[in-house]
Amino acid sequence: MKQTVKDIDVRGKRVLVRVDYNVPLDKATGSITDDGRIRATLPTLRYLIQEQAKIILVSHLGRPEGKVVDRLRLDGVARRLSQLLGQEVGKTNDCVGPEVEAAVKQMKEGDVILLENLRFHAEEESNDLLFAQSLAGLADIYVNDAFATAHRAHASTAGVARYLPAVAGFLMEKELAVLGELLGHPQHPFAAIIGGAKVSTKMGVLENLLGKVDSLLLGGGMACTFLKSQGYSVGRSAVENEQLNFAAQLLKQAQAKGVKVLLPIDVVVGDDFAADTSFRAVAAAAVPPQAFIMDIGPQTVRAFSDQVQVCQTILWNGPMGVYEFPPFAQGTRSLASLLAQVRATTIVGGGETAAAVEELGLAGKITHVSTGGGATLEFLEGKTLPGVAALLDKV
Ligand code: 3PG
Repeated sequence: MKQTVKDIDVRGKRVLVRVDYNVPLDKATGSITDDGRIRATLPTLRYLIQEQAKIILVSHLGRPEGKVVDRLRLDGVARRLSQLLGQEVGKTNDCVGPEVEAAVKQMKEGDVILLENLRFHAEEESNDLLFAQSLAGLADIYVNDAFATAHRAHASTAGVARYLPAVAGFLMEKELAVLGELLGHPQHPFAAIIGGAKVSTKMGVLENLLGKVDSLLLGGGMACTFLKSQGYSVGRSAVENEQLNFAAQLLKQAQAKGVKVLLPIDVVVGDDFAADTSFRAVAAAAVPPQAFIMDIGPQTVRAFSDQVQVCQTILWNGPMGVYEFPPFAQGTRSLASLLAQVRATTIVGGGETAAAVEELGLAGKITHVSTGGGATLEFLEGKTLPGVAALLDKV
């Protein structure tokens, strides 16, 4: 267990808070399309304001690779945060240096300031200790509320913790508690629904979950690799041929462990891999040679639904089809609705899956929607996240 903001005296102190405001932006306008990650930090910020701390926020946005990229500045994020907090949030044009030091000096108790994108400096990602020291020099206490970046050993997630007392914010605490409980003491029966495009990004998760779940429901593009490993024809669908062996082995291990695996029994196929292609549902065993598998079919949705209804715990990561093409979002939408209705503990992890649930307005009906993408996957793989390891343990 990690210490949190409640375990340390923050009253009136300068507190450096690492948040993950790496939010999706509209390509044309640059405006924020989903502010979930900003809203998720409000409990920590409100607590620190109530404690009259001086709150210095740091985040990255996108992957500017050590250069200043104007469209990745955090001004829009500061404006959105001001609206959500109902209080003016200051904003600097850099995250270290004299301008920042002067701005911090002028802060009053309860003030909030957001520093510029950390990744405009290459030293952030290289975990440069001088850069970490510069960040640490701004504050008395370090709080990490950026669960979604905790899998990165960067200056603001790992390095800075060498120089300041380092504790978790409430979002970090909640993510660790919910996901930790899921892996450590899940209520059974426990089902994991895993989708997404590639098996290769989910291998560690699948292997780790195999020892914990009662059933594994596989959909999305990666199901094609599993189907092919079982001798099915998948038409022109993308298959990771180098993972066929892994897929076959995993299914064998599941059988040996008594884990029930549900592969799609029917699929929606398109003539082309395009949003406007003609499509129809066919049995998984009858995919035409020229077709692309684009989504799970209605019978599969029913089978997944029947399985999920008898479970106490359900984890879902990865879309069930080509969600970005509206005709092929049906499987993903159906599962989101299903999870919003069941009485079980429901946990949704991963960027795209969380975005789908948010977009459908169902996030409030899910027990926990993780803010992490890669971080959630690495946690589910059973890995220690450097941003978590750097925090003080509870005494
Ligand atoms: C994420 O969106 O998963 C986190 O913000 C981490 O971003 P990164 O993959 O660019 O490090």
